[in-house]
Amino acid sequence: MARLELNDLHAEVAEGGEKILDGVDLEVQSGEIHALMGPNGSGKSTTAKVIAGHPAYEVTGGEVLIHLDAEEFDGVEIPDDMRTWNLLDLEPNERAALGVFLGFQYPAEIEGVTMVNFLRTALNAKLEEREELFEEDEGGEDEEEDTGYDTSPMEGDVDEGEVGVAEFQEIMSAKMEQLDMDAEFAQRYLNAGFSGGEKKQNEVLQAAILEPSIAVLDEIDSGLDIDRLQDVSTGINALRDEQGAGILQITHYQRILDYVEPDHVHIMLDGKIAKSGGPDLARRLEDEGYDWVREEAYETA
Ligand SMILES: Nc1ncnc2c1ncn2[C@@H]1O[C@H](COP(=O)(O)OP(=O)(O)O)[C@@H](O)[C@H]1O
Ligand SMILES: [Mg+2]
Repeated sequence: MARLELNDLHAEVAEGGEKILDGVDLEVQSGEIHALMGPNGSGKSTTAKVIAGHPAYEVTGGEVLIHLDAEEFDGVEIPDDMRTWNLLDLEPNERAALGVFLGFQYPAEIEGVTMVNFLRTALNAKLEEREELFEEDEGGEDEEEDTGYDTSPMEGDVDEGEVGVAEFQEIMSAKMEQLDMDAEFAQRYLNAGFSGGEKKQNEVLQAAILEPSIAVLDEIDSGLDIDRLQDVSTGINALRDEQGAGILQITHYQRILDYVEPDHVHIMLDGKIAKSGGPDLARRLEDEGYDWVREEAYETA
């Protein structure tokens, strides 16, 4: 269990550019689905990119915290004084190791790498990074940790502490079945002609394999036909229902919210959350657009 907390987050385009985020407050707990909506240009993607540590933005105020509620994290014990982290102080891969999933990273120029190899590498990188994060303060004791995975070396090419090829195949098959994905997908090469919809499905698959506590998904519904939208939605619901992930679902359209029912809806306007509510709020937006939110927000300001 974990909680992601944005406190009064301010950000601008790096090197003295435009101010974009103007005090964003938001909390997402494991097991909850939050929709972040708002008109184009309101700062939704910037919020996601700042959480991810994108170098194009400079944070000028506030914080992004992750609180780890459990004493144990996939078998790694978490000392009391290491339960809360400010993501803004960490590298993107460290953020991932703490259980925050920030969208699919396409390694654009890698030739000849299959999905299955890429995803195994991503999982092993996360496990290794996490071990390093929690090791620092342990005073040098190097106890064997039970990560829940069979990490004994096998097949010659697997280092100690890594998930091996055979075990990973099993993990991946199980996840793909859960997501209703074609088994052939795993053997496809990265970037070998994935359609827009397949890329989005890959994003959900990557999240399913990394088992984040909190997943931030930016416009994962854009450009999908209805079948693919349903598949992707099934995957997002499984992240929450089967794995207990918290989801921050950023979307411009109400459509996906018919399939991924949010517990909370937040509307962003001009770089801050102007209004929060339940699923009804998204339905009202569909009928009435954003104008009334703007009027309300500036009336009370
Ligand atoms: N790297 C950038 N350089 C310049 N302006 C940017 C950059 N990123 C975002 N912006 C501006 O910040 C505002 C918010 O953008 P964005 O976060 O992408 O909005 P949304 O995702 O809600 O549509 C827009 O006016 C956009 O043009
Ligand atoms: Mg956007």
